[in-house]
Amino acid sequence: MRKITMQEVERHSTAEDCWVVLNGKVYDLSSFHPEHPGGSKIITTNAGKDLSNLFNSIHPKDIVRRLLAPEACVGVVDESTIDPARHVLAGPKKPSPRARQLTSASEAGKEGQARQWQKPPIDTMLNTFDFESVAARTMSEEGWGYYSSGADDEITLRENHTAFQRIWFKPRVLVNVKDIDMTTSILGAASSFPLYFSATALAGLAQEEGELAVSRAAAKSGVLYMLPTLSSHTLDDMLAVRQPGQVQFAQLYVNANRERTREYVERLAIGGVRALFVTVDAPQLGHREKDMRNKCTNTADVQKDDQVNRGDGVARAISEFIDPSLNWDDIPWLQSVTTLPIILKGVACGHDTVMAYKTGCAGVVLSNHGGRQLDTARSGIEILPEAVAALNGHDPDWRRCFQLYVDGGIRRGSDIFKALALGATAVGVGRPVLYSLASYGQRGIERMCSLLKDELAMVMRLMGTPTIADITANHVLFSNLTTHLPAQAHDHLQLGTYEPLRPAAKIAITPPTPSG
Ligand code: LAC
Repeated sequence: MRKITMQEVERHSTAEDCWVVLNGKVYDLSSFHPEHPGGSKIITTNAGKDLSNLFNSIHPKDIVRRLLAPEACVGVVDESTIDPARHVLAGPKKPSPRARQLTSASEAGKEGQARQWQKPPIDTMLNTFDFESVAARTMSEEGWGYYSSGADDEITLRENHTAFQRIWFKPRVLVNVKDIDMTTSILGAASSFPLYFSATALAGLAQEEGELAVSRAAAKSGVLYMLPTLSSHTLDDMLAVRQPGQVQFAQLYVNANRERTREYVERLAIGGVRALFVTVDAPQLGHREKDMRNKCTNTADVQKDDQVNRGDGVARAISEFIDPSLNWDDIPWLQSVTTLPIILKGVACGHDTVMAYKTGCAGVVLSNHGGRQLDTARSGIEILPEAVAALNGHDPDWRRCFQLYVDGGIRRGSDIFKALALGATAVGVGRPVLYSLASYGQRGIERMCSLLKDELAMVMRLMGTPTIADITANHVLFSNLTTHLPAQAHDHLQLGTYEPLRPAAKIAITPPTPSG
């Protein structure tokens, strides 16, 4: 590859002739920058420079290979010609952990001095909310803002969990529940209980090991992991950590450039992935203010223009390659390029569930993308009875070749039971995995998983259902599920960890560092 001096790179510093350095390589982004998810200006105003610091802080490591044509790389930079002060763009200031900021007045010491917050030992974690509360204090502003944010007023984000409170149990007694067997099968793969780790973008924001730790924890816990398209680690690395006998699934964002998608799907199949979950609820990413506010303050020094600041955030910066024109006619194309079973992730009504069935998909995930897309969209658990009824109306025998999954708001073993009772094969969890990873690494995820297992075992015992097959709709009362205004008990754990949105006037903005 041609060695290029920084002086030569500098000569290509206009929008029409735009070169940048990324991790030692020189790229000609003249035709790419108009499609850049984070806006064109961040590239064109820094053309002729080494952008690696900024780039690496928000992009998955192999995104260059996924988004840029190989010809975009015009050579390698001659490192000896780089003058850091002149050529290298600084990354966003490393966001600090949140512990200090969350030290409230009530936690202040006698002399008014803020006491240092100490992370509690892992064995004090008793439920999924415990992990969330620790993650809220240990994660960076940027990471916490990205993971915790929901769309608009975050009504769906909270509804995802509270919807489960509108389902009540009808336990059966005097059943022999000495032995509880919660093992099951998800798309033909064995699972230690009816739960899988759903794909979530950029696990590296939780902890350096990111998806690699999630995959290892999944293997240890005997559950399936859906590898994300927007990962912090490369696909090859995620595949390489697969343990003997472990099954991995993959999530797919369909690229506007179908050839890229075809190649990616091929790599997944060759890599041994066993099912493809195509995300269908994100033709545009939702409006997420916690994420957007962080981006505005943390990178104010490098992203000055209004256009970028208004709509930016980690999410947008990594995801606009997703094709908004994706539609039902594309599913047969996807089926023609792979033999992997296809599951649509993000289906939101009975009608589309039947459409997926008729199109030959292997299942759907009833989901609203963790409340991150369309606010006041219904929770997956609420849609479940509608999906079952629609399928029953279409083909009473649908279970032969089609499965229903639910994600969003699953925080207790009882939530898993309720989803199964209403017809789901298994449930997906996303944030609980990220939060337990952020707070205690791989063993945090393993503990979180084993807490949910213990809870489910207890509920199965108390409900008189020793195996998964014993769980039926007769075990739950759900007539209130679609009513959105029932009296509900105050949920102290959820509301105690939920961080309310704040209007701009109540946020202390760190002034941008004066440049130059
Ligand atoms: C999200 C996308 C990228 O942030 O999945 O929700």
